[in-house]
Amino acid sequence: MDKTMDINEYLGEVLVSREEIQKKVKELAAQITEDYRGKKLILIGVLKGGFVFMADLVREIKIPVEMDFIAVSSYGSSTKTCGVVRLLKDIDVPLNDKHVIIVEDIIDTGLTLTYLKEMFSSRNPLSLKICSAFDKPSRRLVDLKAEYQGIVIPDKYVVGYGLDYDGILRNLHDLYILNEKVIDK
Ligand code: PRP
Repeated sequence: MDKTMDINEYLGEVLVSREEIQKKVKELAAQITEDYRGKKLILIGVLKGGFVFMADLVREIKIPVEMDFIAVSSYGSSTKTCGVVRLLKDIDVPLNDKHVIIVEDIIDTGLTLTYLKEMFSSRNPLSLKICSAFDKPSRRLVDLKAEYQGIVIPDKYVVGYGLDYDGILRNLHDLYILNEKVIDK
């Protein structure tokens, strides 16, 4: 795949603008600020896609908050729907004395977060919730809902704001529909 074209050639229409995204980020951060005042909170960002949202979200949260990251990858595309997730990088701290929010860029089938919820639950945090920038409920294979739900989007191939196409296009402020013409290149 050619990864050197002009960035606009990869893109279709803007699905969610940077203004809408930032509005939602502020809303979610305000809610988290209110809900966790006086509580020991850690946000765990899921790499790679979650890093852009995490960076924006934490800067809008107005209480002390710890943060860490995990890296996961599914075992190849064919096994993605089996929910088999490989942990590439774990967090460095215990969770038993903390309230935890997992921060994701998008929830699709819900399998990744189901796995992560189970994994973190076994470490006995004081509470465990999910915050996601985007959500595709129509793709869900398991019953999973984010307590801090971001923007609901239709089942389109989207890129930008952390979401990639073959590793690129994460660095866009807005969420775009991928230009279908690039898929076979
Ligand atoms: C994406 C996204 C979630 C997961 C959601 O990650 O960041 O982690 O897929 O899909 P699910 O609800 O169907 O499990 P991806 O595997 O593309 O890795 P990346 O974040 O490194 O791009």
